[in-house]
Parts: sequence; C-alpha cells; structure tokens
Amino acid sequence: LQTSHGYNNNNDTNGDDGSEGDGETASNGKNMLARKLSTKGDTLYLERRVGLFSGVALIVGTMIGSGIFVSPTGLLIRTGSIGLSFIIWAACGAMSLLGALAYAELGTMNPSSGAEYAYLMDAFGPMPAFLFSWISTLILKPSQVAIICLSFAKYAVEAFVDECGSSDYVVKIVAVLSILIITYINCYSVNLATGVQNAFTAAKLVAVFVVVAGGVYKIIQGRTEHFRNYFENTTTSMGDVATAFYSGLWAYDGWNNLNYVTEEIKNPSKNIPKAIYISIPLVTMCYLLVNVAYLTIMSPDEIVRNEAVAVTFGIRALGSIAWVIPLSITISTFGSANGTLFAAGRLCFAASREGHLMHVLSYIHIKKLTPMPSIIFHSIITIVMVASGTINSLIDFFSFTAWIFYGSAMLALLVMRYTRPDVPRPYKVPIIIPLTIFVISLYLVVAPIIDKPQIEYLYSVIFMIAGMIFYVPFVRLGYKFRIIGELNVHTGSGSSDTAVINFCI
Ligand code: ARG
Repeated sequence: LQTSHGYNNNNDTNGDDGSEGDGETASNGKNMLARKLSTKGDTLYLERRVGLFSGVALIVGTMIGSGIFVSPTGLLIRTGSIGLSFIIWAACGAMSLLGALAYAELGTMNPSSGAEYAYLMDAFGPMPAFLFSWISTLILKPSQVAIICLSFAKYAVEAFVDECGSSDYVVKIVAVLSILIITYINCYSVNLATGVQNAFTAAKLVAVFVVVAGGVYKIIQGRTEHFRNYFENTTTSMGDVATAFYSGLWAYDGWNNLNYVTEEIKNPSKNIPKAIYISIPLVTMCYLLVNVAYLTIMSPDEIVRNEAVAVTFGIRALGSIAWVIPLSITISTFGSANGTLFAAGRLCFAASREGHLMHVLSYIHIKKLTPMPSIIFHSIITIVMVASGTINSLIDFFSFTAWIFYGSAMLALLVMRYTRPDVPRPYKVPIIIPLTIFVISLYLVVAPIIDKPQIEYLYSVIFMIAGMIFYVPFVRLGYKFRIIGELNVHTGSGSSDTAVINFCI
C-alpha cells in the first residue's frame, strides 16, 4: 500500500514522523494509536497530550537502556582510573543537561516534530537537513538497535555461563535472533510492538533500583575497599578521554527525545525545561550510584575484564535472587531494541516518503498497516552491523556520528541568534550553553580522529559523502529512475491483497 503524505496525519514536512519517543516509552507507546487530531483549516495537528510526568517518562525511559549495564567497562578501560571515570560519568550528565536545555530553545522556537532535521533546515537549508535524515536512517538508528541487541545478547548468554565470560560468536548469533524476533513483532502489528514496549519498560527501572539498593547495602556494611587510588593509571591520551566520553554518552543518549514530540507537549515553554531539569539529574544520579554499587563488589580490574558487570554484581551481592538482574536487563534491552526499531521504521518510512530514500521504503503493508519494507530494510543494516562490529566499536561509530549532528544543532542555535533574531523564543538559554556544547562536540569528533583513528569514523564520513552525492540528482533535482519495471507484491492469498508497486529510486 503506497501512502501519500499523512501516514500519521502529521503535517510537518520533515523527515521524521515524531514517533521516536512513542516507540520508546511506556507511557506513550500506546498513545500513539490513540492520538487525537485537531484541525486548523486544512491542516491537521496532533493534540497536546504530553504533560510534565509523561515528558519525564519519555526522557528517562529512552535514556536508561543498555548503556549503564555495558558502558562502565568501556569507560574504565579508556580512562584507566576510577577517579577519571566518575568525572566522565558526571560530565556526561552535565553535558546532556546543557545540551537538552539548548534543544529546549530550539524546540520551542520551531516546534515541528523533526528535531534536528527541522533546526538544520531553518539554519542551513535543505542539504544539511537531508544529510541528517539520511545518516540517521542509515547509520544512527541501525547502530542503536545493533548496540542494544548485542547488549541484550551479552546478558542473555552470560546468565547461562559462569563468570568467565561467553563466546563472542554465540553472543552475535543470539543478537541476530533477537533482531529477527523484533522485526517480526514490528512487521506483524503496531499494537503488538507498542504493547511489548509498555510491558518491558518497567524492567529497567527494577534493574537499576536493585543494583543501587544492593550497593547502598554493601556500603553500609563497609565494603569500600575498592574506593582508593582514585587517579592511579589515569590515561594521558586525549583520544582515550574522548572515546571514554563516547561510552558514557551512549548511556545518556536520548536526552533530546522530547524534541521529537514538541508539538504534542502541553505548555511546552514551561514543561520542556522542567522535564529536563527533573529527568536528567535523576538519570545522572542513578548512573553514579550504579557505578558506586559495582565498585562495592568488584575491583576495577574485574570490571575491566567483564562486559556484563551487572551479572557478576548480582551473583555476588544478591545471592539467591541474583537471577533478577540478568532477567530484568534482558527484558529491558529487548524492549528498548523493539522500541528503537519501531522508531527507526517510522523514520525511514518518513524519510523515503519525502524522497530521501528509495520510494519502496515508504510503503506500508496492506493488512497489517505497518511500514514493513522500511522495518526489514533497517533490520538488514542492523544485522550487518552486529555481524561486523562489537558493542564498543559500534558505540564509537554511533557516538562519533551522533555528535557531529548534536554539534551542528548547537551551531544552528548560535547561527539563528543572528540570522533570525526576531523569531519568538519562548524559552531562551544563555549563549554560553550552546557555545560550550558546540566546542565540546568539536573536541569529541576531532580528538579521536587525530589521536586514535578508527575505520568506523571513515565509514561514517563515506556515508555522508555518499549522501551528498545522492542528494543533488535524486533529491534536489528530483530525478527518478526505474530499477525494475513493476513488481507484484503479494501480501495475502486473495487478489484484492495484491498491490502493484512501481519500484523506483
Ligand atoms: N541511552 C540508551 C542506552 O543506554 C540508548 C538510547 C539510544 N537513543 C535513542 N534515541 N533511542 O541504551
């Protein structure tokens, strides 16, 4: 079934349909289906239904995912010392808070749901906006799903092996299986996908709560022997510090999630900053406490040797209820992967509907009403990523690419202060905030390239150049060429289920 603009009746003309948050949190998952629409003239608007509480849930629900259960290892390896790693965990929280506040200015200034796409379009025009949509569809979303599925697999496999660790090969197979299952769920029904999402979100809070409570208990018992020599062996490499930030920032990623649904937030100029002020410090606090908890039980050396730290924590701290930890983390990561694929499918669908990707990706299944081609397309890219990368290499790949765009959004804010000074800004941040985050993002992107170049960074740049090459003839000039004449797609047995699709770029 080919759709015209308006799959979710969202009138914005950007490459994102705003469903990211909906796919990723409990409180909003199902609401996606029940969204009410209001009209002004011919234009359809989504009703403002997201209040302060849902806003907080939307941010916290996206931020807490796999990272806090896998990043402590990567961060400690890269920093070399617990002192620097705590500083980086806290600094990542501060950066997310400041970044989110700057995004609040952007989001209240231009409330259309496309976030970065809309801001880059306003500040720099269609080409950078297109590049964002292209890169998030081809790199950012699939790598998110890949990292989360690998983390799921790590914990699922680790639960069945002893503390010495599991084979990478088995972890990858389990990760691929999980991708196939969530692909099936997402293709099969929107209800099923959002239902899984709602049911599974609570699990991550259980896991975080149990780890923090276990840690507090151990501290009360006086288990503080690993809290010494804070800065011994601290790295001196600037590239290592930047990639340590990559690991930490992955755990905090999702801080900008409200900007995908600004149109639906009640009283946005008040509720967006409030939700940010509540949720990001809350998540930062949880992350710091979880790291303290790990250290009450494991020495830094043990953490470095073990990617599924929380399993060991559970075994040593919780005795007979140790199984709660891997179980809740696998449930939680499975839910996050499912929600991220849900969002990815919609993003890819919307981008192709705008003519940014192959046209065939903007079709939805006749009976299931799911954007099946784009979901399958995403899953294929994700499987390739899982097969060729590791959790840490994919985190680097993701963070490097994501921070190019987060930095560009900061630049967009700064530029628009001069080019569009008169546009109303219901919420305005001190200029030092976007400036600081912009400078830090420059450092985060440039330092690893100079200090520790990795092939993944090159892939990311190649994708961007490919996007630019694709842009001129196919998007800007609107050339279409037919690859295959006509393709009959059978979605069921009856002849009424047969759609004829013109397959063209
Ligand atoms: N911070 C999350 C985690 O630790 C990842 C969030 C990915 N980003 C997103 N917008 N879904 O798993």
